[in-house]
Amino acid sequence: MSTFLSHNYRGAYHFSPKENWMNDPNGMVFFQGEYHLFYQYHPYSTIWGPMHWGHAVSRDLVVWEDLPIALAPDEHGTIFSGSAVVDWNNTTGFFGKEPGLVAIFTQHAEGAEGEAPVQRQSLAYSTDAGRTWTKYAGNPVLAHDTFVDFRDPKVFWHEASAQWVMIVACGQTVCLYRSPNLIDWTLSSEFGEEIGSHDGVWECPDLFPLPVDGNPDQTKWVMLVSIGDHQGSAEGSRTQYFTGDFDGERFKPDAASQTRVRWIDYGRDNYAGVSWSDVPAEDGRRLFIGWMSNWKYAGQTPTGGWRGAMTAPRELRLQSRSGSAELIQQPARELEAYRKEVLSLKQVTAAQASAKLAGLQLESGEIRIGFVSGSLEMKVRAGAGRETVIGYSAAAGEVYIDRTRAGAADFHPLFAGRHTAVLDAADGTVDLRILIDRSSVEVFAGEGLAVLTDLIYPDQVSTGLSLAADDEETLIDSLDIYELSI
Ligand code: FRU
Repeated sequence: MSTFLSHNYRGAYHFSPKENWMNDPNGMVFFQGEYHLFYQYHPYSTIWGPMHWGHAVSRDLVVWEDLPIALAPDEHGTIFSGSAVVDWNNTTGFFGKEPGLVAIFTQHAEGAEGEAPVQRQSLAYSTDAGRTWTKYAGNPVLAHDTFVDFRDPKVFWHEASAQWVMIVACGQTVCLYRSPNLIDWTLSSEFGEEIGSHDGVWECPDLFPLPVDGNPDQTKWVMLVSIGDHQGSAEGSRTQYFTGDFDGERFKPDAASQTRVRWIDYGRDNYAGVSWSDVPAEDGRRLFIGWMSNWKYAGQTPTGGWRGAMTAPRELRLQSRSGSAELIQQPARELEAYRKEVLSLKQVTAAQASAKLAGLQLESGEIRIGFVSGSLEMKVRAGAGRETVIGYSAAAGEVYIDRTRAGAADFHPLFAGRHTAVLDAADGTVDLRILIDRSSVEVFAGEGLAVLTDLIYPDQVSTGLSLAADDEETLIDSLDIYELSI
């Protein structure tokens, strides 16, 4: 494939590295008006290798400024995933009067001949808003005697117990530690045995409180746990979540989390996502971004010169549905500033909407549609023998993305396929919000209860749109189409 063609897969509004390999988002923290995004980065290759932390900053989560590599391997190992926090009260002693940033990350050291690798947690700090980093001289700060997989620390200040809390993956569970200063850590508890999915190794956990239905008196804790790829799975790597209570030491799962596995995304390409730290209280959002790929085929995707992109930034909320708190996702509202209206229809039939779509072109953009709950299907990035199909099946009660004919797929036998999420249109209507880009589609259905994120590799010329309903008279309450690019 020519470099020219493959470069056209670079998203028009999704973050990707200018060159070479990227996987997990790391160290997301808001500080002094900037959102920081670090990421697993191999600066010398488009395949995974010795990990560094790449770095970018943004004032609005959409336009990113690339900064130099923040953390590079050293005598303790390469730099795996982790988090960053603002040390407001200089609990570490790394800072003077002004608060600074502390990164808490895994260092992965290959074992000697015939021995297992070693994963331990280390610190680095920055006194210049993340521009330069100093590794803590006492690294590593946390090791484990038995776990080979001991990684991806996510740290937050737990207000109620006035201490730092770390959630870190340990084999097929997560361990919770506490610390007064980010340096000395005490084990509080372990969570995960006999609950949730254990299809693969546990990675990249997160833990944060959210109000249920926006009610600050009714807070639940959400735990995210990414599950690694394993042979024989069709889904590959994906992220589950638990809801429950947390007292600073122990996580107690809700009934819903004890009885079923809930995934944050039912597409194939949203992995290792975690949330931003230190978003100001007056903003109050829990902002999330994920790595838009899957370990099943991440190393084979047909981009040229660069590989790996992030999902759109998203806001996470909790809503009660049928008695349990469910995770809701929507694209961060900042994206709306980049919309250019293409079409806006109200109260039309499917047949009328379909006629209006003929001839429209959309390479990167957003579609919002609300309709009375018959089966309805939209094709995006269509033309030249390609199409990505997004729809709702009333019979199955499912929303889906079918990328079977979306574009290049021959790089992995499990890439082509149709992915579904249950969506109960109980009130008789369905709403879909679809983000389209040069190599991805993200679908938020049922106000963001059912989410699917899929990579696609269409031709550059495949930009057609169409809509069809089983019943041509299906009422479309509203249909809005925007171009989206920066
Ligand atoms: C998840 C992961 C992490 C690890 C990193 C290495 O995708 O496997 O567990 O820290 O990637 O790049």
